[in-house]
Amino acid sequence: MEQTFAIIKPDAVERNLIGKILEKIESKEFRVAAMKRVLLTIPVAECFYHVHKERPFFKDLTASMCTGPVILLVLQKEGAIKAWRELMGATNPAEADAGTIRKEFAVSLEKNSVHGSDAPETAAFEISYFFSQTEILS
Ligand code: CMP
Repeated sequence: MEQTFAIIKPDAVERNLIGKILEKIESKEFRVAAMKRVLLTIPVAECFYHVHKERPFFKDLTASMCTGPVILLVLQKEGAIKAWRELMGATNPAEADAGTIRKEFAVSLEKNSVHGSDAPETAAFEISYFFSQTEILS
């Protein structure tokens, strides 16, 4: 069974959307294999988003990820990586399809409520960056 990594970002946690987002996740038959609520620090966020370090939005992105607690998740189902990206919707909520989490809840490109791995290698890195094997009950 494929696993992917997800974050419910500070903008969504702050607006009490954890339950609504988890409901959408479970309604699409994902299993939550691991979950925790943490406050990221700037160095942790910078390392997590290292692939974006040359992008103009890197500083704002990493700062915004540290403005409040996030929910870290390992999600499991067949084809989980693609399925989670479909459920999230386009990165820019203005371009997200109806029925997606970002269309429903996100407020801007930066405050886009959720994150998801984009490929198997990224998922492997992102899951192991935040979770040890013993924390993941598949
Ligand atoms: P996420 O899926 O977490 O991956 C990188 C994040 O950078 C993205 O969601 C957006 O929240 C943020 N971001 C800000 N500006 C941009 C941009 N111009 N293009 C892509 N991502 C951006």
